[in-house]
Amino acid sequence: MPVYYDQAISFYDATRGYRDGVVDRYREALLGHTGAHASARFLEVGIGSGLIAQAFYPVARHYVGIDYSLGMMRLIRGKLEGDWRPLLAQADARYLPFVAGSFDIVHAVRVFHHLPAWRDCIDEARRLLRSGGALVIVEMIPPDGADRPPWGIVQDKWDEILRGLGVSSDEGVDQGIWLTDDAVRQYIEATGGSADVIDLVRYLEKPVSPRIMVERRVAGMFSSDWRLPEAVHREASRALRDWLERDCEAPDDLVEREMLFRAVIARW
Ligand SMILES: C[S@@+](CC[C@H](N)C(=O)[O-])C[C@H]1O[C@@H](n2cnc3c(N)ncnc32)[C@H](O)[C@@H]1O
Repeated sequence: MPVYYDQAISFYDATRGYRDGVVDRYREALLGHTGAHASARFLEVGIGSGLIAQAFYPVARHYVGIDYSLGMMRLIRGKLEGDWRPLLAQADARYLPFVAGSFDIVHAVRVFHHLPAWRDCIDEARRLLRSGGALVIVEMIPPDGADRPPWGIVQDKWDEILRGLGVSSDEGVDQGIWLTDDAVRQYIEATGGSADVIDLVRYLEKPVSPRIMVERRVAGMFSSDWRLPEAVHREASRALRDWLERDCEAPDDLVEREMLFRAVIARW
């Protein structure tokens, strides 16, 4: 069962959006590394609210997006420019409603960590690629060796509180895979493909403080919150706020974290 992002529509863009220019840099890096041009047929798996898709308006004539969440895709309307209209379909990444060989580029940004059946999703993307096409799987990760931001402690505290309540912070959450895991490359190679791991864009996130992170937790803005029993979430939220007021150092210091769009580019 895919992660149910309809519950994120009221805050997704405000909390997951990028600074101006970041997604344009992603588009240019993607085009540069794949050699795709304006006539290429693009499929975005997990298009969500269109944060990434909107950058393709100036270059992509054929742009198709799928997502499990209709609510997320409805947010795309507010981002359309001119007469550019990506074709949208509600679908699960494991079963895509297109004939084989329909696309030159299949890309998925911040999606694969939600896909426990990620191997099936890679197989499905591969089926849809034309000869010479590329699958681009992207996750946001901190650069190697980067210092942890001060607000990272909020996550540790939350995990500790949940453990104290006898619950694991990823209880009931489908685990996909992070691209740092060699298993992705190995799988692509085992299916006869080649896989290059490439850092496409380095960027600064919008500034965040420990208090902002606590309030996002309390408001249930992380996908790992959505399947916690309500009573557990309420109790953990109360304990987290207590910790913030009593023990957290510099709760209002805003810090911008440096991050990467790290891609696995696969070809068969
Ligand atoms: C973190 S959001 C990323 C959205 C967009 N790619 C972005 O970067 O803003 C993850 C998206 O993947 C979608 N998703 C999760 N599992 C899915 C699945 N099995 N099939 C299709 N979409 C899925 C969610 O509905 C959500 O819109």
